[in-house]
Amino acid sequence: MIQQRPGVALNVVMLGPPGAGKGTQAERFAKSHGLPKIATGDILRDAVTAGTELGRIAKATMDAGELVGDEVMIGIAGERLSRPDTARGFVLDGFPRTVAQATALDTMLEGRGQLVVVDIVVPEDVLLRRLAARRICGSCGINAQVQWTTTCGQCGGALVTRTDDDNGVVRERLKVYHRQTKPIVEFYAARPSFRTIDGNQPPDVVTASMDAAICDASAMKEVRR
Ligand code: AP5
Repeated sequence: MIQQRPGVALNVVMLGPPGAGKGTQAERFAKSHGLPKIATGDILRDAVTAGTELGRIAKATMDAGELVGDEVMIGIAGERLSRPDTARGFVLDGFPRTVAQATALDTMLEGRGQLVVVDIVVPEDVLLRRLAARRICGSCGINAQVQWTTTCGQCGGALVTRTDDDNGVVRERLKVYHRQTKPIVEFYAARPSFRTIDGNQPPDVVTASMDAAICDASAMKEVRR
């Protein structure tokens, strides 16, 4: 757990391929540090469920494993990051995903303090296994925990397969990751606040590595709880 310096925002971006554990770790870090987790995939899936115009635009693109357009995504992120709950910082999961989005994020964050970027690295065969096994709650959308067999332990909804976790779509998502998102690792890699962590470890070990990496990158203090 990191002790934030008063008045200094803790702005975190999580990078990594599909299934790397960005959502799992972003949720844990945001919760333990009282920061908002902003997941663009969740925002899009909520829009699909609500049947909004954004949901209609996004659904076919997501189901094909492609990326929703930069203009739409930059608009969504800009609006969300302008809300007052992000003043102490935030954890971004799924944005940026292209160099255009990363460039726009730099502009959005001018004068808002340091950005810590954490890239979670996991071998491709492990990603494929994780996504083939993943079930989510059809009602609230969270990833199922191993001890839940058919229903969500949080809201009681039925567990289902995420529509873009079909094997063919996962392979397309991985191709899109290498083509469009991997270049932003290069975009950030030379910055002093960029860190890489090994995501092929038990979730609690990844959480500890992430805390230590963010603590080191932000030059904030780590406190034991
Ligand atoms: P999004 O929802 O962001 O999906 P993703 O990046 O493909 O990531 P995932 O949610 O599949 O994986 P994750 O890394 O979060 O891993 P998780 O923690 O869930 O985006 C979906 C789509 O929306 C995109 O394809 C695109 O169309 C669109 N989109 C979103 N943002 C966009 C943007 N900015 N621009 C354009 N389009 C955008 O874990 C995966 C599984 O592994 C779970 O079952 C979990 O329990 C398990 N697991 C996690 N950690 C571990 C561990 N350490 N050990 C064992 N199992 C683990």
